[in-house]
Amino acid sequence: MGGRVADVLDERAAAVQQVSSGPLRTIGIPRERAPRERRVAATPETVKRFRRLGFQVLVEREAGLAAGFTDDEYTEAGAELVETGPDIYRRADIVLKVQRPLPEEVELLRPGQVVIGFLQPLIAPELVVALAERGVIAVSMDTIPRITRAQPMDALSSMSTVAGYKAVLLAANELPKFFPLMMTAAGTIRPAKVLVLGAGVAGLQAIATARRLGALVEAFDTRPVVKEQVESLGAKFLELGVTTEEVGGYAKELAEEHLRREQELIHNHCLEADVVITTALVPGRRAPLLIREETVRQMRPRSVIVDLAAEMGGNCELTVPGETIVRYGVTIMGPLNLPSEMAYTASQMYARNVAALLEHLAPKGEFAWNFEDEITRGVVLTKDGQILHGPTLERLKEEVR
Ligand code: NAI
Repeated sequence: MGGRVADVLDERAAAVQQVSSGPLRTIGIPRERAPRERRVAATPETVKRFRRLGFQVLVEREAGLAAGFTDDEYTEAGAELVETGPDIYRRADIVLKVQRPLPEEVELLRPGQVVIGFLQPLIAPELVVALAERGVIAVSMDTIPRITRAQPMDALSSMSTVAGYKAVLLAANELPKFFPLMMTAAGTIRPAKVLVLGAGVAGLQAIATARRLGALVEAFDTRPVVKEQVESLGAKFLELGVTTEEVGGYAKELAEEHLRREQELIHNHCLEADVVITTALVPGRRAPLLIREETVRQMRPRSVIVDLAAEMGGNCELTVPGETIVRYGVTIMGPLNLPSEMAYTASQMYARNVAALLEHLAPKGEFAWNFEDEITRGVVLTKDGQILHGPTLERLKEEVR
């Protein structure tokens, strides 16, 4: 792929630079077409923000309906309704999306047009190549640097918050037990025990939600720095005595020996748990395997595992992404795209993140493309026919090797 990338991009770059770059004044919001996607990239609230900056806003009819936002609310906020998705792509300078554009949507993109969404360049580097070939300015919501001033734009954190909350509700629904301690006329009911693996944004939200429902909660993460946060939520932090170095706020892959010791700790605590929520991820890589089949075999038969890492291969060996299965009497859920199941709040948060990024890139309604800025460098994947994003170029080189 590497040779193709270099050749095509060099050729295209020259052609694309000929494209006139007038001001980008029209924002378009198509309806998401990926299966089971209910979110929308702009809400009536963010449409108002865009209008205040002087943008014209086009919204495809019923784009927000599955998330709970009506066409009337968008028009009252100052948007123009457009009948079809292709019309949005034809008329908009800036296309706001949630999911990666599907091949038929990529076909509709044109040179100089900006597309913003969860482009997942490390998972789909071939899409980045296609976007560069089309001369698109591709801006990815999932590569925003984890720095303090970028927090209002941090869509990964927003979606993890939603997923962590929802995972606990799924588990509580599936578990044939109460979460809280109950003193009833029929006697005392002991509270459920919840184990949360990975105490990043999703894990911390899962802990908070399980605590609100009254469960006893334990949590583990390879970053000892989260101990205090876990404890401040009223949960117990399990200690391994081994640390993972952090790179830019993300965990590195664990050395094999550490992983073995970690699995031993996890194994022992899984056997005590009624619910295990797993959220451990290493960005752009397969999720670490934390729960082996042997552990599941020895777990209590009525217990529940919710594997939030299912999309990245799962933290549990038996997880089937997108399905709920029962093995050895243990229910194992591998939900995909939980944020879509809470589409109203998820869209509200995501749309605010997108608006904050757009306001950063185009402070007075005009794009500045300042590559001295760490956020701009982090999010702009392609421009003028070139792939600009370092980690994506690295990934493409890896594929060639
Ligand atoms: P993530 O979704 O990539 O990973 C989830 C969690 O899994 C992380 O806490 C990670 O340490 C843990 N993990 C990875 N391998 C593991 C293993 N083998 N066993 C157990 N746990 C494992 O991470 P997320 O939630 O997106 O963010 C991670 C951290 O980044 C946050 O907790 C925070 O400290 C930092 N962050 C900083 C922000 C900022 O603006 N400064 C914004 C958001 C996050």
